[in-house]
Amino acid sequence: MSNDWRSATGISPHQTAQSDEGTEIATSLSNDTVIVVSNRQPYRHRYQEDEDGESTITVDRPTGGLTAGLDPVMQRLSGTWIAWGDGGADRDTADEDGQIPVPPEDPQYTLQRLWLTDREVEEYYYGYSNRALWPLCHLAMGNAEFDSAQWRQYCAVNRKFADRVLEHATGGSVIWFQDYHLARAPQLVRERCSSDQFLFHFWHIPWPAVDAFRACPQHQELLEGLLGNDLIGFHVPQYCRNFLECVEMLVEQAEVEHESGRIRHGGRETVVGSFPMGVDAETLKRQSARVEESMWRTFKREFGLDPDLGVVLGVDRLDYTKGIPERLQALEHLWSEQPEWRGEFTYVQKGSESRSQIPAYQQLQDRVSTITERINDRFGGNGWQPIIMIEEQLPKDTLCGLYRYSDVALVSPLRDGMNLVAQEYVAAQVDDDGVLILSELAGSHEQLGDAVISVNPYDTEAHADAIDRALTMPEAERRHRSRRLRRKVHNNDLDAWLHGVFDAVNQLRGDAGS
Ligand code: G6P
Repeated sequence: MSNDWRSATGISPHQTAQSDEGTEIATSLSNDTVIVVSNRQPYRHRYQEDEDGESTITVDRPTGGLTAGLDPVMQRLSGTWIAWGDGGADRDTADEDGQIPVPPEDPQYTLQRLWLTDREVEEYYYGYSNRALWPLCHLAMGNAEFDSAQWRQYCAVNRKFADRVLEHATGGSVIWFQDYHLARAPQLVRERCSSDQFLFHFWHIPWPAVDAFRACPQHQELLEGLLGNDLIGFHVPQYCRNFLECVEMLVEQAEVEHESGRIRHGGRETVVGSFPMGVDAETLKRQSARVEESMWRTFKREFGLDPDLGVVLGVDRLDYTKGIPERLQALEHLWSEQPEWRGEFTYVQKGSESRSQIPAYQQLQDRVSTITERINDRFGGNGWQPIIMIEEQLPKDTLCGLYRYSDVALVSPLRDGMNLVAQEYVAAQVDDDGVLILSELAGSHEQLGDAVISVNPYDTEAHADAIDRALTMPEAERRHRSRRLRRKVHNNDLDAWLHGVFDAVNQLRGDAGS
């Protein structure tokens, strides 16, 4: 069975020329407005006090693959990005309509901020989005809560987003919704928009199988909300298959064509397809090539790492889906069962704080700290600390240096829509000597699986063996695997994703117009 949208439309991948791609996509949409709609904004303004107590405004870029991936896209397409203005200085930096040109240093498109009350944030963002949909889609049912008040607020905030979209949309607009925060918005826009507007949704996280999804009391409204779209994209075909099955079994009178990914419902058609997202590999390669070894020595000194020891790296948001405790337990197993590895390498975990107001996230943070302390107490000594945790934000160059100079990366989520960290790590391997250990349960494993060391993150012993294997891999094999991985990541980069997406959009709009 195929759910690649191209099998439905007959277009081959990346049909357009591969040169000057941004301009080309921009040209193909130049008469139309592209409106991106997401919960998280790409730039946030905040007040920060300096040492003298003076308040200054700083701008930061929130962590997470979605905004990092889409900002370069929007810089090429211009248009408008509608998102929640969550920064303390956001209102003071935007105009009276909440608009601000971004990127701040070289404006290319408009960020339209939308204001949410504390209660809306609590019930829509910390509530239904992240206590119901996030755990549901990641099969973490032990963390899932389905609260009706939160659901009502989720619907109300989706309506707020839909209203903003309708204010900006003009004839022929392409409206591009992002992710699980906005499942109701497409239907709400569809009810009031003109027929020449194209609605597209990219779902950045997994879509669960029907037996899990049907546990959600609001399953029907969520599916109907998404069926307001003309096109729905997922990272991998399995999520498409799951979605189609959910629609077939849970939405009355929906007709589903599995092979082509077409759904007919309410007199309209929605196409479902897979578009594996990539990273801006060329830029990462250049950034990484620029980082000199002296930076790495300084980094090691600053964070108390022995200059002569190897480094195994983890880079994640502190989220229970990322498998951080499981990874630490694998390291503990390795140091316990193979004592010869003690004092031989340091595990550096770059963990960004995330969604801390939700108890499951606080528990995860506590768990990670407890295991880290236990391991450091148990094995550390003689100037060697087995695990170093870094919570502060690192500049992109430093992160590229970490990717480039560490020996092994451990990317072991329990479930992940795609995981762009794995791809970033590969793109930064300009010396072709790093080894990637990747969870079989991450979407990116579909693409990279045959050249990485695969792990099941729940299998502690095998996970420890994988780390041992990575650390002892002969140089020739490391280089061979790294070159293959880099080719894959470059061939399936952000431009390729964008082409796939916009080829599909243009094809389907053409079909509708003919
Ligand atoms: C994941 C989600 C994104 C989200 C990001 C960061 O990548 O797919 O939609 O923006 O995590 O999470 P946050 O809750 O901080 O936006």
